[in-house]
Amino acid sequence: MNQLCRHFGDCGGCRFQDVEYCQQLINKENLVKELIEKNNFALEIRKIHSYQKFFYRNKMEFSFSGAQGSVLCGLYSGSKDRRLVNLEECLLFSKDIGKILNVVRAFGNQKGFSVFNKYSHRGFLRNLIVRETKFTAQTMVAIVTTSEQDLNSSEFVEAILNLDLEKPVVSIFWIKNDSWSDAVVFEKKELIFGQPFIQEELDGLFFNIGVDSFFQVNPQGIKELYQTIRKEAALDKEKRVLDLFCGVGSIGIFLAKEAEHVFGVELHQPIVEAAIINAENNKVGNITFFAEDTRRFLNLKAQGYKNIDCIVLNPPRSGLSKKIIRAVLRLEPAVIFYSSCNPKSMMDDLSGLVGEYDLDFIEPFDFFPHTPHLECLVKMKRNRPKG
Ligand SMILES: C[S@@+](CC[C@H](N)C(=O)[O-])C[C@H]1O[C@@H](n2cnc3c(N)ncnc32)[C@H](O)[C@@H]1O
Repeated sequence: MNQLCRHFGDCGGCRFQDVEYCQQLINKENLVKELIEKNNFALEIRKIHSYQKFFYRNKMEFSFSGAQGSVLCGLYSGSKDRRLVNLEECLLFSKDIGKILNVVRAFGNQKGFSVFNKYSHRGFLRNLIVRETKFTAQTMVAIVTTSEQDLNSSEFVEAILNLDLEKPVVSIFWIKNDSWSDAVVFEKKELIFGQPFIQEELDGLFFNIGVDSFFQVNPQGIKELYQTIRKEAALDKEKRVLDLFCGVGSIGIFLAKEAEHVFGVELHQPIVEAAIINAENNKVGNITFFAEDTRRFLNLKAQGYKNIDCIVLNPPRSGLSKKIIRAVLRLEPAVIFYSSCNPKSMMDDLSGLVGEYDLDFIEPFDFFPHTPHLECLVKMKRNRPKG
C-alpha cells in the first residue's frame, strides 16, 4: 500500500493515492490502449514512463481562509462543499512545504491579518504560491494579498529565511491583487527578497522560472519527454523546426543545437520574452520566437517559412481547432510530434491528421502520479511526397 498523505480523502489535490502506484500505471496504459482501439489507430504503443511518485510537482498555489487570528492556508476539499483544507503537508509537492505553510499562518495570526472574502471583496490574505526547482534545489515564495493592509515585508522575509529547509528560499515576492477574479493577477508584483526567478536545469540547459511563468509541473518528466523528441526527431543542420504553442521555448531550445533553425510560436508576449531570455542564457542563436496566436501565425506568416521539416505541437488541454490542423497539413512537414496532457482531445486531433500522415508511436509519460492526468507523445510521418 502507498504511503498516504495525512490529508488524503479530505484535500482535493489528488484522488488516487490509495491505489498502488504500479496499478495506477497499468490503468493509465489501459486508458491509452482503449483510446487507440476506439479510434482504430494503428501504431506502436510504448511503455509508460514513471518517475518519483511523490514530491514531483514544482509549483503549488494555496488559498487562505478562516478568520482574523485563525488563518487557514491550503487547498480546497474534493467534496461539493469546497471547504479549505488547512494543510500540514503535501506529498505531491515538497518536503519543505509543511514548514512554509506553518510559518506563513503563524505570521498572519501574529500580525492579526484578515482573510480575503470573495463575496464581500474585503480582507487581506488571498494566496500563497510556492515554486521549487527539482534539479537545482531553489525555492520561491510569493504571498498574494489585497492592498488593504501592510505586509511588513522585512519581517515576513525574516520569518521565511529563518526556516531550516532542504531547498533554500532564494526569491520572495509580495503580489498585490485587488481584482474580483479568483485567479491570481500579477500586475503589482514586488520582489521583497533575492532574485526575480529560480533557475531549473534540464539536461545541461537552464530555464528561468519567474513568479508568473508557465513551466511544466514535473521537471523529471519533461526532461525525458524532450530527450525523447530530440532522439526521435534525429535532426541535422539542414532541418527546420516549427515549435507551436512553445511556452518559454524549452522544447525548441532542446532541439535547436541539432537543427538549422527553430521557430517558436506562443500567444503571450511575457512568455515569449522569457523564451528569448532562455535562448540567450543557453547561447542558442538559431531560434526565433513569435508572440502570436498559432492560427493567425499559420495563416498569415507561415507561408514565408515553407520549408519546415518538423512540427512540434504542444497545445493546451482543449487541443487544436480544425483550422489549425488544416494549416499544419498545408506546411507538409515530414514529421509531426504531438504532445498533450489530454489524450482524449489529442485522439480527436490525430483523426484530422491521419490521412496524410502515418502514426508511428504513442509514448505515455506519467507526469501526474495520483491524479487522472497523463501526458502522451505521438510521432507521425508524412506518407506522400510534398505536393
Ligand atoms: C501546454 S503549454 C506548452 C508549453 C511548452 N510547449 C512547454 O513545453 O513548456 C501550451 C502553451 O500554449 C500557449 N497558447 C495557448 N493558446 C495559444 C494560441 N492560440 N496560440 C499560441 N499559443 C497559445 C499557452 O500560453 C502555453 O504556453
